[in-house]
Amino acid sequence: MVDSQLKEKVSFSRDTLDVYGDAHPKALLRCIVEDGDHLKSLESQHIFSSDQFSKDTLLQLFRLAAKYESNPERFSTPLKGKILISAFYEPSTRTRLSFESAWHRLGGDIMSITDRATTGIAKGESLGDVAEMFNNYGDCVVLRDSSENSVQEMMDSLRIPIINAGNGIDEHPTQALADLYTIYKWRPELLERSGKKIKVGIIGVPNKMRTVRSLLKLFSFFPEVFEEIVIIHDGSSNLIFDDNQREQLESRGLKLTLTTKFSAVLPELDVVYINAIAWVGNDYESFGESFVLNDQSPLKKDAIVLHPLARGDELDASLDETPHNWYFAQARGAVFLRMALLTCMCQRMERVMDVI
Ligand code: CP
Repeated sequence: MVDSQLKEKVSFSRDTLDVYGDAHPKALLRCIVEDGDHLKSLESQHIFSSDQFSKDTLLQLFRLAAKYESNPERFSTPLKGKILISAFYEPSTRTRLSFESAWHRLGGDIMSITDRATTGIAKGESLGDVAEMFNNYGDCVVLRDSSENSVQEMMDSLRIPIINAGNGIDEHPTQALADLYTIYKWRPELLERSGKKIKVGIIGVPNKMRTVRSLLKLFSFFPEVFEEIVIIHDGSSNLIFDDNQREQLESRGLKLTLTTKFSAVLPELDVVYINAIAWVGNDYESFGESFVLNDQSPLKKDAIVLHPLARGDELDASLDETPHNWYFAQARGAVFLRMALLTCMCQRMERVMDVI
């Protein structure tokens, strides 16, 4: 590499405000009246599914996340002395590191396991017994496991809270929380009666992708916000939804439609959520490989693109430098959202409510 190229590379900007999608979270604070009582239910719950929340709990969680995000220099250390057991038995960049970043920012300590073969599980130890030990070693568990049942198996023996950080094709509730938090930061007025409804396109498979399954459940707490949710699929499978999945969402007031006409529907969408992989068993499967978003895609001028990441060819890097890129903000905001959730689950709300 010649010197001038290297010089250009070693100089970088720390200014995150240059990054697209960095809406000011203070706008969200103005749209949600504080009522911390709704967060108390989180003190005595494991987080397994998006179904567990209530609309009020979600709004207050977003408010607390926005408070953290608005005051990055004013964090107290409410989790000082607390220990997180971070157990990720499946690859993860964002979820593990953002949970660990959130916990560190709140002043706690972490024990991290990234391979179940380094625990007694490799010797046949039951998840129940491992959970019993976790009770003695930590104050909260975050678990990613490709088995759909592991979180529930551990819940039976745990006396400390556990958070499902992705269980096979089933759910990924905290990803969905981060996704919806991003949408409300983008358009806080959606939370006011006067806000215009939005049309969301989901390029993904609701019965195979845990992020999509959990997000649709969260959407269903706010049917008044969504004009329509369009599921864009490639027509290769008739099984887009599990039994009752669509019916349940529609019974809660969501208007769901399906299409294979990707290019035709794109110009109508306010939010485009794209994902192309699902973690199935010990490997991933790709879906909708013919769908690619890039800077030439016919997106509405002010449409935003979300992606849970990791991305493949479906999300071209040419979109990164456009105002449609809210997927990096989505990943960034997840730290603050997880800080809010962890603070509540570890019964340390009173230490932050008056401080931040
Ligand atoms: N969104 C998400 O779950 O990313 P990771 O797999 O990197 O954790």
